[in-house]
Amino acid sequence: MLPINKKIFFVKSKLIKMMAAMVFVVIISSFSVKHFSAEPMQINIPSNFPSPVYDFKNNPLTKEGFELGRKLFYDGILSRTGNISCGSCHQQASAFIQADHDLSHGVDDQLGRRNSLPVFNALFKKSFFWDGGVPLLELVPANPLENPLEMDEKLDNVIKKLNASATYRTQFKNAFGVDTVSAKEFFYAFAQFMGAMISANSRYDKYVRHEGVQLTPDELEGMNVFKQKCSSCHTTDLFTDGSYRNNGITNDFSNDKGREEVTLDPADRGKFKVPSLRNVEYTAPYMHDGSFETLEQVLEHYNSGVKESATLDNLVKQNNGKTGIPLTKTEQQQIILFLKTLTDKEFLIDKRFSEL
Ligand code: HEC
Ligand code: HEC
Repeated sequence: MLPINKKIFFVKSKLIKMMAAMVFVVIISSFSVKHFSAEPMQINIPSNFPSPVYDFKNNPLTKEGFELGRKLFYDGILSRTGNISCGSCHQQASAFIQADHDLSHGVDDQLGRRNSLPVFNALFKKSFFWDGGVPLLELVPANPLENPLEMDEKLDNVIKKLNASATYRTQFKNAFGVDTVSAKEFFYAFAQFMGAMISANSRYDKYVRHEGVQLTPDELEGMNVFKQKCSSCHTTDLFTDGSYRNNGITNDFSNDKGREEVTLDPADRGKFKVPSLRNVEYTAPYMHDGSFETLEQVLEHYNSGVKESATLDNLVKQNNGKTGIPLTKTEQQQIILFLKTLTDKEFLIDKRFSEL
């Protein structure tokens, strides 16, 4: 449990960040795009995905910008102690989550309050973090950077450290044409790297895009049950509707009020982001608090463990007033087989996103 002053810090810092976000959007949209010799980079938007949310209009994607974003992502220079990088908690082999922890570990091995979320397909997300506290991809890095339990640094100080490095100054110049690094280019480089991290080559994707892959009868049966019982929240080929809901994993929200911490509305108590289920085979433990180790436990939760509370979602309730989504053991197993078709093995070893 966090001491109360830390909790207040979280709530306050969220509000401050939201306001800073607004100011930042106004400032960046007033910059015109400069022309210099960075090499444009293309990404393919998968044909089975919804349209991207993030627009590279003000921040044209280039090879230099992307490479710089990758370098920053894996550099401990972003943390107060110099040893925690974004990649410490977002590991490629685990689809960019921190595998062996139910709660994330930051500077001085401090324990965070929540399980980490995967970083891929950020281009398509309307908001970020379990409670949606950050509305814009560009602003994501500010949050872990300044979180006392994660990197515990100050943005100003990181910018100073980057300006003190001749290598970084050259890279920023090549990517953005600037002599001095500012927060704007720092955020832009991150947005380029994270925006280009698209995971869309699972067996399921190849099946729906008719790229010569067949699913087994059990996997197909799992897909059918999933469509009937799960896809009301885990919608589209992103497997999320981007909303915040209470799926009944707990009815004690004293340690984490979820979406309410952003909106300050008690009707949002205990609601968390509906996560994408892509690469879910690799993102254990599950849920915002890491409460389940296995997919079997998750399925049994939906079948028999859903806890009643004032904000519990109607979609995990039955007509007879009971909670949960009834699923036979066979259906549970078939759904798990289907979920495993969402694993994108190529992405997990794609060198473009690896630490150099
Ligand atoms: C100490 C571990 C830790 C570090 C370091 C860290 N993260 Fe995270 N990250 C998390 C946790 C935990 C969450 C979920 C937190 C929450 O929702 O409140 C998260 C969430 C995110 C998300 C949200 C994904 C979504 O679907 O909403 C993105 C993007 C992200 N981190 C990027 C980064 C970047 C970029 C850095 C480096 C600047 C970074 N993280 C550093 C642990 C970490
Ligand atoms: C009411 C909407 C809703 C329905 C219906 C629903 N889910 Fe979820 N699901 C959520 C939310 C919200 C979370 C995150 C909850 C949290 O962490 O507090 C979640 C989390 C998960 C996770 C954990 C993912 C991770 O990375 O931590 C899995 C797996 C999952 N759901 C599978 C399913 C399956 C399978 C079904 C159908 C049996 C289903 N869900 C039905 C809303 C829903």
